[in-house]
Amino acid sequence: MSEAAPPIDVAIAGATGVVGQRFIEGLQSHPYFRLVAVAASDRSAGQTYGEAVNWQLDSGLPPDVAGMTVLPVADLVGHEARVVFSALPSKVAGPAETDLADAGKAVLSNASSHRMDRYVPLLIPEVNPEHLSLALQQPGDGFIVANANCSSIGLTLAVAPLEQEFGIAEMHVFTGQALSGAGYPGVSALDIVDNVIPYIEGEEEKLRTEPAKMLGSAFRPADIEVRVTTTRVNVTDGHLIAAHIMLQEGADLDQIHRALEDFRGLSDVQNLPSAPERPVHVHYEANRPQPRLDRDAEGGMAVSVGRIRQAGKLGRRAVDLVALIHNTKRGAAGQSILNAELAFRRGLFYRP
Ligand SMILES: NC(=O)c1ccc[n+]([C@@H]2O[C@H](COP(=O)([O-])OP(=O)(O)OC[C@H]3O[C@@H](n4cnc5c(N)ncnc54)[C@H](OP(=O)(O)O)[C@@H]3O)[C@@H](O)[C@H]2O)c1
Repeated sequence: MSEAAPPIDVAIAGATGVVGQRFIEGLQSHPYFRLVAVAASDRSAGQTYGEAVNWQLDSGLPPDVAGMTVLPVADLVGHEARVVFSALPSKVAGPAETDLADAGKAVLSNASSHRMDRYVPLLIPEVNPEHLSLALQQPGDGFIVANANCSSIGLTLAVAPLEQEFGIAEMHVFTGQALSGAGYPGVSALDIVDNVIPYIEGEEEKLRTEPAKMLGSAFRPADIEVRVTTTRVNVTDGHLIAAHIMLQEGADLDQIHRALEDFRGLSDVQNLPSAPERPVHVHYEANRPQPRLDRDAEGGMAVSVGRIRQAGKLGRRAVDLVALIHNTKRGAAGQSILNAELAFRRGLFYRP
């Protein structure tokens, strides 16, 4: 697709929430996309966006968006926007995203509802760009492309170089997930201040299944056993993920560092507008990565990996590491925008 083509009109469903706000930030002055509509629940519909939203981001609410009237999500079905970025809660996203795709929209989803559907790509352009062609096998002119869960994206980006070079047999994973991951208003202050909550509903199943779908071929998930515990911690943004990995093939620490350092993705992915120069940043300091220091690496689109160790008597197949992802940027809106950029570049928005 010619990059000189006029921008494509896009809408955001779930625009007033935590992820919706990141979409607005990420779509400002975008070279491929022009935001023409925002939609949310009946609570917000009919108000201006500025009235409906509790804006949380340092970047400030763009005045042109503040003046837009919030639509009910159902109104996007007949809307002129070709692309809909969805930041809807999963309980409403399932049927709403299907209706939008049936109406010919390209839907870039953050919800879990369609992630494991056979023909819905669960996409990270640097990891599995070939999965995008699954979208063309969905019926009609519309389609759904999904993001994985925020921790699944962070884990998958961090271990993809190891899966590609050495194969992964098994991972034990422990997460400390930020408050913004629970949406707005999220977790009650009385529950989380001075505390860690050792359970996040529905989250562990996603980490068990989604990385395997992304690291496998289109219809065959990678054969990786994942055991996982997810926790909520008192951090605003940035999910920390400790992974204890058993490789299929032994490697020494230098080989592991090199695999992570050299990881880039295909050349037509590398120069997409939102793609980081290096999707994985490797840290050698003992106390990194940290949410406050590292979540905004390359605009929040790079994952940081550190504390890379080999686990003593388990030998060269055992690797431990800690990864960090900005959950609402690379883990949500930024990831969807990057997916849409790849779809744009590969001509999917111009299906006859
Ligand atoms: N937060 C993260 O880090 C993160 C990361 C990855 C994926 N996700 C996924 O992204 C989606 C959005 O998450 P979030 O954190 O942004 O949630 P959120 O802050 O709770 O925002 C939800 C949005 O959906 C709208 N909405 C709620 N109920 C609706 C309904 N019945 N009909 C139409 N719109 C409705 C809300 O509008 P009103 O303001 O009008 O209520 C709001 O705009 C979820 O599926 C979540 O699992 C989130």
